[in-house]
Formats: sequence, structure tokens, C-alpha cells
Amino acid sequence: MTVYEVRYGRVAGSLEIPGSRSVTNRALLIASLAHGPSSLLRPLEAEDTAVMRSCLRALGVEIADGDPEAWIVEGSGGLLSVPDAPLNVGASGTTARFITAVSALVPGRVVIDGSPRMRLRPITDLIAALRDLGAEIDILGEGEGPPLAVGGQTPAGRSITMDATRSSQYVSAVAMIAPLLDGDTEIRFSGDVLVSRPYVEMTLDVMAAYGAEAEMRPGPVIHIRGSTGYRGIEYAIEPDVSAAVYPAAAAAVSGGTIEIVGVDFRSRQPDLLFFDVLAEMGCSVDWTQSGVRVSGPVRLAPVSRDMNSAPDAALMLAVVCGFADGVSTVANIGNLRIKESDRLTALQEQLAVIGIKAQTTADSITVEGGSPHGGEIATYDDHRIAMAFAVAGVATPGVRIQDPGCVAKTWPGFFAALESVTVSATMVRLDMGIIVAIDGPGGSGKTTVSRAVGERLELPHLDTGAFYRAATLVAIEASVDVQDAPAVIEEVSRHRFGYADGRMLIDDRDVSSEIRTEAVTRAASPVSAIPEVRRIMVAQQRAWVAAQGASAVVEGRDIGTVVFPDAGLKVYLTARPEVRAARRASEQGHEDVTRVASDLHRRDTIDSTRADSPLTAADDAVILDTSDLTIDEVVDRIVATAKERQTG
Ligand code: DC
Repeated sequence: MTVYEVRYGRVAGSLEIPGSRSVTNRALLIASLAHGPSSLLRPLEAEDTAVMRSCLRALGVEIADGDPEAWIVEGSGGLLSVPDAPLNVGASGTTARFITAVSALVPGRVVIDGSPRMRLRPITDLIAALRDLGAEIDILGEGEGPPLAVGGQTPAGRSITMDATRSSQYVSAVAMIAPLLDGDTEIRFSGDVLVSRPYVEMTLDVMAAYGAEAEMRPGPVIHIRGSTGYRGIEYAIEPDVSAAVYPAAAAAVSGGTIEIVGVDFRSRQPDLLFFDVLAEMGCSVDWTQSGVRVSGPVRLAPVSRDMNSAPDAALMLAVVCGFADGVSTVANIGNLRIKESDRLTALQEQLAVIGIKAQTTADSITVEGGSPHGGEIATYDDHRIAMAFAVAGVATPGVRIQDPGCVAKTWPGFFAALESVTVSATMVRLDMGIIVAIDGPGGSGKTTVSRAVGERLELPHLDTGAFYRAATLVAIEASVDVQDAPAVIEEVSRHRFGYADGRMLIDDRDVSSEIRTEAVTRAASPVSAIPEVRRIMVAQQRAWVAAQGASAVVEGRDIGTVVFPDAGLKVYLTARPEVRAARRASEQGHEDVTRVASDLHRRDTIDSTRADSPLTAADDAVILDTSDLTIDEVVDRIVATAKERQTG
């Protein structure tokens, strides 16, 4: 079995999404029934629409789909031919329902079959409605779905009551053939319940665009004029909002930002509701001229929502809830159990794989948000399960998706699209430029400048010199000769070094002032020249920065060259020797500038000539001579460059 490992990181950038599956299949069907040719602009090329095209062709409709930007459908005017062989609707629910209704218009018998899962998906409510209109339908199999035989008797428009508690697709299917029937059709609903009503409204919209007279009246009751037929037109398919929920959710869970091109807040597609829910969970959602921009927060808030009108997005929402700070409930979504898989059970089982507890009822799921971990996701041949858990993998390392090809049902390019906007975790550090490395010799202004840059960029600040000073302190306190490398290493290995809130800790003892004595300062250069000491200290420094989310201002001698060679911004500060000596002397309250200068010179020589990690500017460092600049000027320049790199 193929298994795909999701790229872990954060989403950024912009993405175009494919045309709506729901609209494409409605437009294909209606254009096939229309008088005259139609062109469908930017349709969805995917398995679900391929199945619909092949069934319509088998009924005698000519469809030219060579140009991915525009398919041309030669309308049949309703004069369909009897197919030579059974029609195979595969795993496409819309095709199964819509083609069953259309087959009632064919002057002859049409046999319809589908995938094993499709045979289990109930279609009896549709069959009952079509029979009420006068069509003849036989269930040939054992279950409540295909195989079926349709035909023999022409249906006519009349008043019917449908059970629309399980799927709105039955209603859409009946509505779409109604303009070709003799007599008006009026559809009422048992208990006045119509699930996923916005999808029916979408159907009526597409029908109206092709010239039908169809409207939803209070009740609800649908009224459709008979014998009007449809007229072929040019029809632009809008982008698929059901697809847009995945990149939007990826921004939500990864704390990234994504711009989804072409999604329009005025769309009829019910999954638009998802964007409101994301906003409620703490995302920022901005509708722009060109689409929608979604940014995820640091932590997501839990929600409780009735998602009956947006069942496809509900599945993604349940996975997003796994990342929220608390318990969420997604309610009134019982029809998820009869989709491509039993999606409520699938959600519960696969959330458990990534460490998230969930409970389901007949029609809801309650998710305890937490910190998901990696795992291998079973996808039940269900494109939406695969896509939703891939989104989880953007924010969690090690999520693998079994049988990823199932996404071809509605979005063949899904994984490539998601990868194209996922900046991987290591690249986040490089591309966002959030590690600022500041190196340079003593007296160059490193510490003052680095602290100020950290404050201005709201990044934590790490002084790595403190680690070498602490190593020196433990050697001095143990009366070890600092030139005796093995003895120093042994002493250093006995202790734990830590750094918290700007304080240097040895075995949790705050040594921030002890490491600033002259004795430590003088002995620090030979100690920091010992490779094993550096190895221990560099590991500590990297771990500290990783714990800050790989975002920090880090100062030292080898940060840009050795510790973080991938840092987004490297600065090398320097100053003329006499300026550095004067700064050090005034810092330390020393009168004898000449002695300070010679001390500094001696330490610089050791630091820059030692074999391991000598003090030197990285090739790609910005070199700043601070001799004639104020601190504010130096800080301003570094902050401006860091911001340019972060946004660029
Ligand atoms: O920046 P400082 O004076 O506090 O540094 C103390 C000593 O540690 C100094 O001799 C240089 C050395 N050091 C180093 O070798 N590598 C670093 N990244 C930081 C400091």
C-alpha cells in the first residue's frame, strides 16, 4: 500500500483551488439536458466529474473536455439514448443520484451500478420520489442502493412529499429533471425537514441560470415549472469551497497564513460556514478582492457548532478541534455516517491514532483538544478523511496517510497543492529569518545591542558567552588549572548548565554575577578554546533556542558560523580597538585603558586564532562597524533588516 508522509511545518503563501465538484456535476447534467451547446468554464477535473461525464456520454451526450479551462457540452434537449451497457457510477454519490433521476427520462431501460460502498449507500428515498412522479424503478440487488433498473414509463410533474432527512442530493436530483416533465412539480418534505438545504438552493440557482423556473418557498416547498426545459449557456464554475476548507484549516492548526484565491463570500456553497467557525476559534479571516486570507492563532479556542448545513466541512472541523484548547462538539451531522465512509466512526478511530480522544453519538462528535502526535492514518477510500488528516500533519510531525490516491475523487492535485504552501519546519527558521545571530569581539556592543534587538522584535535573547563563563567558573571553583583541558572537561561534565530569564544557572544556582568577575573574564578564552567544552555548550544553546520555537536573538562568537549556520539574519559587530577598549574600561570602571586594551587584544587573539570555531564573520553576515554609531542606530539597522527578511 502507498503511504504518504505529510510535510510538517507551517502554511504560507497563496493557493488556487479547483472548481466546485458540486457545481460542476450539476452544470454538466443540466447542460446535457439543455437545448443547444453550453461551455463550462474552469470545471473540476476529478474522478467524481469523470464518472458523471462517462455516464452522460453513455446516454448519448457529446462532451468535449480537451480544454481544461472550458468543456463544451452539446445539449440533448432531453432526447437521451438508451445505453448499451449498465452505467457505472463508481463511488460518486452525486452521479448515482443525479443519473438515476435522469435515467427516468430515457425511453428505455437503464441499469445503474456502482462501487461496493455505493451499493450500501441508501437511495430508497429518491426511488420513492421518482416512483411518485410515475417513473418505474426496480432495485436489482439485496441492499437499498444500486444496482437498479430505471425506465419504461415516463414521469410527469405533480405534487410530491419526499423524505429529505438523509440526503439533499435526492431532492436536487428530482428538481433537476422537473423542468423537462409535463406539468409543474411541487416538492414538500416529510416533517418539513430538508437536510443540507443550501445544496438544494445551489441546485435551484444553477437551474435558473440555464433558464428553468424553480424556486424555494416557505415551508419549505420547492416549486418548479414543467415543460420549460433548459437553454445552453456559458457558465463559470466557481472554486470549490469544500476544497478551500483544507488549506484554511492548515493555516488554523499550524499558525500560518494562507490566501485562497477566488473564494467569494457571496457563494451559495454551504461550506463557507467553516470560515465563520474558524474566526470563532480565534483565526483571523479577511475577505479580500481576490479571495480570503486566513491566519491561525497561537492556540485555537474550542467550539460547539451545529454543522448540519455543511457536512463536508464538518469533518475537517472535527480534526481542527483536536488542536483546540478544550472540548469541542460538532453536532447534527448524522448523515456523515452514510457518506464515502461512516465518517463519524472514521473520525473517532483516526483521531485516536494521533492521540486525540473523541466520542460519537448517532449524529455528533465530541473532541477533546490536545497535542496531537504523528501516526499512520487509515483513509477508508474516503478523500475527505485523507485530506483532513493531511492537514493535521502540517502541524504535527510524522503523520502518514495510507492510500493517498483516494483524494483524486475531488482534488487530484491536493497533496502537491498542500506541499506547495507548506514551509517545512526547518525552512521556517531559514525563510522567516527568526533566528538573529549576532557575533563579534568584546566591546563591539554585542550584548547591549542584542538585548535591544530582542525587545524590539519580541524575541527572547540568549547570551552564549555566559555558558563559557559558567564553564570557566566551575573550573576555577574546583581549583582546576584552566590550561588543563582534560581536567576542565571532567569538571564541566559534572554540572548542568541552564539559562532562564536572562540568568545563567549552574545546577539551578544563579551565577549571573559570579561569572562577571575579572578572574573569570581572563580565564574564559582558554576554556572556550577547548573543543569538548564547546560541544557541550553548543548542544545546550541549540536546545534552548529550539525550546523557544526556534525564534531568538543569539549573541556570541560562532553563532552565524557554527551554532546556527542557517540563521535568517547574521550580523557581525565590530569596532576600532581603541573604541572597544574605552567601552570596556568604562563598563568595568577601570582607569587604566591601556591595560584593558591589551587584555582585550590578548583575548581577541585567542578567540580568533583557536582551531575550533574561531571568531570570524560568516560569509553572509551583515558587517557593522559600531565605532561611530549610537546604540539606537545599530539596533534600528538590525531590526529593519530582520523585518525585511521576515516578510520577504
Ligand atoms: O561575550 P563574553 O565576553 O561574555 O564571552 C566569554 C568568553 O566566551 C569569551 O572568551 C569568548 C567565549 N565565547 C565563545 O567562544 N563563543 C561564544 N559563542 C561566546 C563566547
